[in-house]
Amino acid sequence: MTALDSAHVLVVGATGGLGSAISRRLADRGARLSLSARSADRLDALAGELGDAVVGTHAADMTFPAAPADVVGAASAARALDGVVFAAGVVAFGPVTELDDDVLDALLLLNLVAPVRLARAAVPVLADGGFLANVSAVVAERPTAGMAAYSAAKAGLTGFDAALAHELRRRRVRVLDIRPPHTETGLAGRPIAGQAPPLGQGLAPDDVAARVVRAVEADERDLPASAFA
Ligand SMILES: NC(=O)c1ccc[n+]([C@@H]2O[C@H](COP(=O)([O-])OP(=O)(O)OC[C@H]3O[C@@H](n4cnc5c(N)ncnc54)[C@H](OP(=O)(O)O)[C@@H]3O)[C@@H](O)[C@H]2O)c1
Repeated sequence: MTALDSAHVLVVGATGGLGSAISRRLADRGARLSLSARSADRLDALAGELGDAVVGTHAADMTFPAAPADVVGAASAARALDGVVFAAGVVAFGPVTELDDDVLDALLLLNLVAPVRLARAAVPVLADGGFLANVSAVVAERPTAGMAAYSAAKAGLTGFDAALAHELRRRRVRVLDIRPPHTETGLAGRPIAGQAPPLGQGLAPDDVAARVVRAVEADERDLPASAFA
């Protein structure tokens, strides 16, 4: 069991639909939080809501090469880190023939390169018994037409998580790969390119967050899409 009471957890993408729901659930379980995303205003609003649970906020664009290490450095300087949750991300829709370079770069940088850099910075400072939880997506299991680059980024992250878990076996640091199905956070309605196809009713963000936090506490190592049924 992982005890979250007083554990210090860095949540990246903390202001998003999933990140904020996970942050609230972690705070309910007694965790102390460092919160990161790009918008300082939205971070301040969330920190105001979560009150004493918040150790600090760190506004940063995770697509900048130094940002993941800077945020880990600042959070762990404030208090030793027990866990890191990566819940930032962007999505794009449309056929590969219409995928322009800026959109491709943005998809890969935030959804794949940033969590790899974040893990590289966090592993040396995470306490033994700590955890890294990365939000991948159902498309890592079921790559989807019209979302090829997003699917590739998420499949890449899931592959990274599996390899990192092997690397960290002896260190008592757990890696949790999270692959939620479509969730009603509004993400699909603000793609960086294209337009979402009809997706049907998604899951409630708070239900997904509750399942994620339960998995962290129960030392689960994999949350496939089927775990959210
Ligand atoms: N919603 C779904 O259906 C679904 C399903 C499966 C997986 N996921 C994954 O879950 C994660 C969270 O998605 P969500 O639905 O919660 O989306 P969301 O509500 O749009 O939240 C995205 C978060 O990422 C942050 N962010 C965006 N660009 C950033 C950047 N360049 N640097 C740092 N932070 C950045 C946003 O804050 P700022 O804009 O202030 O930076 C926000 O906190 C994503 O990885 C997504 O792929 C979502």
